Formats: sequence, C-alpha cells, structure tokens
Amino acid sequence: MNPACAATFDVSQTLTGCAKCGDLLDIRYDWSKASVPKRLKDFENRWNNRRFPLDHSGVWRFRDLLPFAADAMVCTIGEGQTFLQNAQCLGRQLGMWPGQLYLQYEGFNPSGSFKDNGMTAAFTHARMVGARRVACASTGNTSASLAVYAALNGFQGIVFIGSGKIAFGKLSQALDYGALTLQIEGDFDACLRRVRDVSAQLGLYLMNSVNPFRLEGQKSIMYRILEGLSWDVPDWIIVPGGNLGNCSAFGKAFQELRDLGLVNKVPRLAIINASGANTLNTVVNSLGVTWNNGHVDMSKVKGLYAGMDEANYHPHTLASAIEISRPVNLKKALRALDVMKGVVTEVTDDEILEAKALIGRYGFGCEPASAATIAGLIKLLASQTISRSERVACILTGHGLKDPDATVYYHTGVKTKEAKQPPAEPTWGKRANKPIQVADDVQSIIKALGMSQTTLDNSTPTGYVETPSANLPFVEY
Ligand code: F0G
Repeated sequence: MNPACAATFDVSQTLTGCAKCGDLLDIRYDWSKASVPKRLKDFENRWNNRRFPLDHSGVWRFRDLLPFAADAMVCTIGEGQTFLQNAQCLGRQLGMWPGQLYLQYEGFNPSGSFKDNGMTAAFTHARMVGARRVACASTGNTSASLAVYAALNGFQGIVFIGSGKIAFGKLSQALDYGALTLQIEGDFDACLRRVRDVSAQLGLYLMNSVNPFRLEGQKSIMYRILEGLSWDVPDWIIVPGGNLGNCSAFGKAFQELRDLGLVNKVPRLAIINASGANTLNTVVNSLGVTWNNGHVDMSKVKGLYAGMDEANYHPHTLASAIEISRPVNLKKALRALDVMKGVVTEVTDDEILEAKALIGRYGFGCEPASAATIAGLIKLLASQTISRSERVACILTGHGLKDPDATVYYHTGVKTKEAKQPPAEPTWGKRANKPIQVADDVQSIIKALGMSQTTLDNSTPTGYVETPSANLPFVEY
C-alpha cells in the first residue's frame, strides 16, 4: 500500500505487513492469467451446481474474483448464504421512495456475522501455507468466526479479547467452539498490539484484517448485493466502521470490477463510526486527510494518536463491535472512500439504539454496531447527502442474538450484565473451556498459552489435526 516501496511478495508467504517498509499489504492479481467471466450474470451458472461446496458458498461461487487458491485448499463451511432484503416497511418509515432501501443481512452466516466471508479466505491461505495455530484479537465476532472455522477445519484457535469488552453471545461462541481464549486487561487496540507481537514471536497465523486474504473474502458481500439486484449497481452502500477491513474490501471489490469492465458504475460508500470511537470521522472530516494516490499524510494521523495517548483516551461505545480507536486498515479505507466517492459520519449510542429498535420492529434483528448503518442513513437523509429516491443497501453485519443484553437494556432498562452476581462457589460443565485472565504482557501471555518460543513450530501436534475425534465434525474437501 506504500507507492514509494511497492515491494511484492509471493502468495506462499505469510505476511501481515510489508517485510520492507512495514505498511499494509494488498492482494494483486494478474487478471490476464485468471479466467474471469465476461459478465457477472455468468456466475448464475454456479447455482445449478450447489451440491459442490465451492459453488454452494456465497464467497467461493465468485472464486474467479479472488483467484489465489486451488479449489482443493479451500476451507468452506457454507458461508455467505445471505440475502439482500427489500426493507419496504423500514424504508417507508424513513421516508424513502418505495422499494429503495435494502438490508444485506449478514447475520445469516454460520457464526452469525459477516466475518465468515473473510475467515473462509484467510483459513484457505492458512491451509496453503501449512499453518496449524491461528490467532486473532477481537471485539467478539472475529473470535467467534475464527473459533468455528478452527473447530471445523482442524486448526487450533487462539483468541485475545479485552476484559469486559465483548458481548456474551460472541464470547459464548469462542468458548463453546474450543478456542483458547485469553482475556487481556485492556481494550481491543491493546489486544491487537499484543496478538501481533505474540504471533510474530510464536509463528501463529494471524487472522485479523491486517491479513490481506481476509479482505479478499469480504469482497463477496458486494458481489451478493449486485446479485440480489440482478447485477444492477445500487446508489449507496452503507457500512459501520471499526477496524475498517470491511469497507476497505468493498472499495477493492468495486475498483477491480470497474477495471475488469464488469460494472458500468461504482456505488457511493458511507462509513458510519460510533461517536465514542470516531477516528475515521476525525481523520477525514476534521483533519482533512485523503487517499491522495497512496501518499496519505500519516503525520496528521500520528499526531491524533499521540494526543490520544497523552489524554489516556480509550474509545467507548455501546456498539462494542466497533469500539476501536486505531483502525489498522485506515489507509485502505481512505482508498475505498476515493474509489467509491465516499462519505464518513458518526452517530451516538442513543441514535444507534433507536435505529436498532426500528430495524427490529420491522423484522430484521441485528446487533448495535450493525444498526449504525440505519442511524447513519437517517442522518445522511436529513442532510440531503442521500436523496430519498436513491437506492441504498445497508450491511447488517451481525445477528441480533449476538448481543441480547443491549436489546434487553433498551426495552426494559435492566442492565443484565451488571445484574449477574458470580455465585459464591462457581460450578462448570465437564467440557468447560474457561477464559484465562492474563496480564497485558508478552511473557505472561506465552506462559498462559503453555507454549515457549523454542517448542513451537508447525510440526508440533495441536491435538486437532492429527487426531480428529469421532465426536467432532471434521471437514475435508
Ligand atoms: N459490525 C460488526 C458486527 C463487527 O463485528 C465489526 C468488527 C464491524 C461492524 C466493523 O467492521 O472492523 O471491518 O470495520 N468487528 C471486529 C471483531 C473488529 O473483532 O469482530 P470493520
């Protein structure tokens, strides 16, 4: 992503930053060697072959647009069976023209969030490079998704979460699917710094969105929206912004589709921050930083981060999924804004909760972060940035059941998390997979993982790949 460096690396390498300059890496294809269909409509032929797992997957049925893996390497669990819903009632309520508001309901994914789109791609790359142990930091959904893919594809999953920072629905998934779960004293930004350190030291395969293969899978959300509109392009795509991987992937998808001549127009993009975690909005609308052909003025961003450190600032929003103040994909998000003539805005927690209740009232559940899309749409309609006659697709990134506490709180005023007193003598099940409390330093983490730098390499058995138990599902393609 750094034009002054422009180093390239082979797809068989495992890198989450440029080995020369440290900047983000981007996946580039030599399209002349790929077999991309002449028209997007040609992808419909794959529907007839849905018994083949790759054609069933809502990601891999578009595999010609992410052609980095041989079919045999693909780790799919049937992700991406998600639909573009025409939200007639909600659209009418917001004063939009009939039939113009669509919701891309990503909560239908196997782990209940849009993260599965990217996870299938990154696990595929992990398999290609022979990785066995995979790790991530997460506000919850990435860890849930990682845990599912690890369990079903024979990897050991390790997840880092901030203490008290994750919705219970998501935590329960990571625990149930057997991921080694480390609760760090700190927020997501601290967890991500740590998991990057620890993964580099121990050779764990990093699954966060600094891994460029994750974003390749996330492009497919855009393909499915086009498919849902019979290959027409909407006027607007609206997406919540956290670590900014998702919006970056959308920009890349449309840049490629345009360059390949597969679309005749590119939709506009609106990225919505929560006010309590509004780095992108500040960078774009207050500091005026732009993509500038890859020559991003990072000194302004560094200045902002230095100010945050000085003030001991930590992000805070009820939309815990996007409670992030140092989005790692910032530069790629600026590129997406450039490609898609994008805008950024922020919404308060109250606006998010009201929007979530509206979405729910009209029959589509989602978690708070996802509702930032509709809260943002309301704002952008009011400012006439988006017109009521335009066709808008909002990404509902995560299922409503991910964070039932937020919903119960909204409807009853009861904070269920605080009402739960730990029992005097805790009991747990025979297969309990308890989170391990650990201090935020590398040595304590390595100790908690029960690993040392000298004992770990990919030939060390993880207890998963070599001995798939008869009781556990084991997927092989
Ligand atoms: N919506 C939900 C439900 C999310 O879980 C996230 C990110 C986002 C939106 C923002 O997407 O990071 O690509 O800008 N969740 C991450 C996680 C950070 O760890 O699950 P983004």
